[in-house]
Amino acid sequence: MISGYGPVPASQRPDPAVAYWETEAEQYYREHAGSLGTDRLVWCPEGLDESQAHLLGDVAGQRVLEVGCGAAQGARWAAGAGAQVVGIDLSFGMLSVGRRLGSDGFTLAQADAAALPFADSAFDLAFSAFGALPHVPSVADVYAEVARVLRPGGRWVFSTDHPFAWVFPDSPDPAELWVNHSYFDREPYFERAATGELAYTQYHATLADHFTGLSRAGFVVDYLAEPEWTKSAAADAEWTAWSRPRGALVPSTIIIAAHLPESGQAAVKPSS
Ligand SMILES: C[S@@+](CC[C@H](N)C(=O)[O-])C[C@H]1O[C@@H](n2cnc3c(N)ncnc32)[C@H](O)[C@@H]1O
Repeated sequence: MISGYGPVPASQRPDPAVAYWETEAEQYYREHAGSLGTDRLVWCPEGLDESQAHLLGDVAGQRVLEVGCGAAQGARWAAGAGAQVVGIDLSFGMLSVGRRLGSDGFTLAQADAAALPFADSAFDLAFSAFGALPHVPSVADVYAEVARVLRPGGRWVFSTDHPFAWVFPDSPDPAELWVNHSYFDREPYFERAATGELAYTQYHATLADHFTGLSRAGFVVDYLAEPEWTKSAAADAEWTAWSRPRGALVPSTIIIAAHLPESGQAAVKPSS
């Protein structure tokens, strides 16, 4: 496997990400079943669980979309809490694991987060726990789509890689926390098989990219969280770039909650 940073030809998007999640779906679920569970919404490797965090509030009766739902643990949790839920993911393999775990009471659909197959204003709330965002070339495209399918006043709460984590090696060891990559470099990280095929891609969005994208999509940001490790977090070895010792020094996850203004209250959009 060859890895590095560099452009991904448009003709290969979003195939590398899909290929990875198709191949790794079963293995990913087995590896993380203990920390992600089957019907919990765990926001991040630091172990922040929605049952304690209450970032979404009461979802009962709401039309809820989970973006990049993977095996749909979050969607299952929301359905159990009384929401009408749809979970979307680009990977048929991840959705298959989700179906096997059970999809009674909610809908799973294969879709690209940047081209959602739903009508305008179809949902009251959208959320994502590391779904899709690290794997899309433009988070702004996803934010625009999420804004379109949310009703005025709708909320969007998501976790993803902390933008600053990009500058460090992908290591859990605090001794390796030296800046080895430019924060401003948007070229994605890739892994290429010996045959030359791209096997995995991960994109970088700076803090400004997130905020500008949200703002242009019409969102008003309510809060930003940088979760610290919880007592119930997974073992240090479970997630490659995460560990309790590393997490004690720098954040690796960012959580953002935003909402669309009610009709008639236009958000101020920045000009380009
Ligand atoms: C790290 S997993 C997160 C899923 C789940 N929340 C979890 O913690 O297991 C990332 C998910 O994003 C999905 N994904 C990647 N690119 C996507 C896209 N463009 N649209 C929708 N889903 C995508 C992958 O297939 C994968 O299931």
